[in-house]
Amino acid sequence: MEEPYTIQDQEALTKYLNLALEHEWAVSFEYVIHAYSMPKGKYFYQDPVMNLQLDSRAQTIQIGIDEMYHALQIGLLLQQLGRQASFKTDVVKRYPKIIDNLKRDKMTEDQVAAFYQKVKFEKVDDPKLQNMLLNMAADELRHSRQFQAMIETMMAQGLIDDLCYSPNPEAEKREDLKQVHEICQLENALAHEYLYYMIKFSEHQDLSQRLFKNSINHMRHWDKLAGILVKLGDVIRLENPEPLEHGGEQTSKPMPDEYPGKNRLEALEHTLKGEKELIEKYQGILGLFPEGDIRSQLQAQLALCLEHLYTQQNLLDNARRIIPPGN
Ligand SMILES: [Fe+2]
Ligand SMILES: [Fe+2]
Ligand SMILES: [Fe+2]
Repeated sequence: MEEPYTIQDQEALTKYLNLALEHEWAVSFEYVIHAYSMPKGKYFYQDPVMNLQLDSRAQTIQIGIDEMYHALQIGLLLQQLGRQASFKTDVVKRYPKIIDNLKRDKMTEDQVAAFYQKVKFEKVDDPKLQNMLLNMAADELRHSRQFQAMIETMMAQGLIDDLCYSPNPEAEKREDLKQVHEICQLENALAHEYLYYMIKFSEHQDLSQRLFKNSINHMRHWDKLAGILVKLGDVIRLENPEPLEHGGEQTSKPMPDEYPGKNRLEALEHTLKGEKELIEKYQGILGLFPEGDIRSQLQAQLALCLEHLYTQQNLLDNARRIIPPGN
């Protein structure tokens, strides 16, 4: 990231905020993917801020959630300024060794903290914005200390060669794995599509809060599916991956970066279509799993999609009644 970055006009401000946003989207994925790739309840460390023994995996997910809120803060601000919020992302990487991922996470935190702390405002006076950047930098510094503590603990315990879960070599031949991966991709796309419209229509809380709720539900589904993949002997995939030279993989497109809804009606129509597609997929996959934990979880997720179907259908019908076309 370019630093120190100087903001001398609105164009530079927009560019800066979108660079920050593309970073935040990337890490909101990267950390969570790193966490999903490591075992639950195995790597405990003493958290330097919370003063408690915590599971590195769980805390890495929490940090990923912080990053998503940073992304939303920046996205909402861009919308307020009348600018388009980018849904592109920086590169997301996953290395084979757990500790290498944590080291990358720590390095990223230090870079972005500096990007927020060292920005120079010239001729643009916006104390609240400057404050926001300092507040986010403070979060990033906390994250950096937390990742550092995780790394030091793994080193002290001689766990530097521990590996992430690896993809199941049979995945292409197994219908269950193939379909869970497909559903992961749809859940991810729909979660971010809702966020896109949540930001785009943030001038009114009624629509944006409802879309936000749906987005969070789909993110939870994605989280649960990552756990199901581990149970099935697989691991969550990076979307559009390319191999890294020394092992591991990377992607510049972990989620779609464009969504078709240009106004309320189009947005509601398209999310309704997304829900229908997802419902079909869940209905199709249930037959592949016997009674048990995985099937119950998938059923719960299908049920929530049915709730969303109801909500989105009503939002659309109501918008058709009241909102003039083109809005
Ligand atoms: Fe952040
Ligand atoms: Fe961070
Ligand atoms: Fe949904």
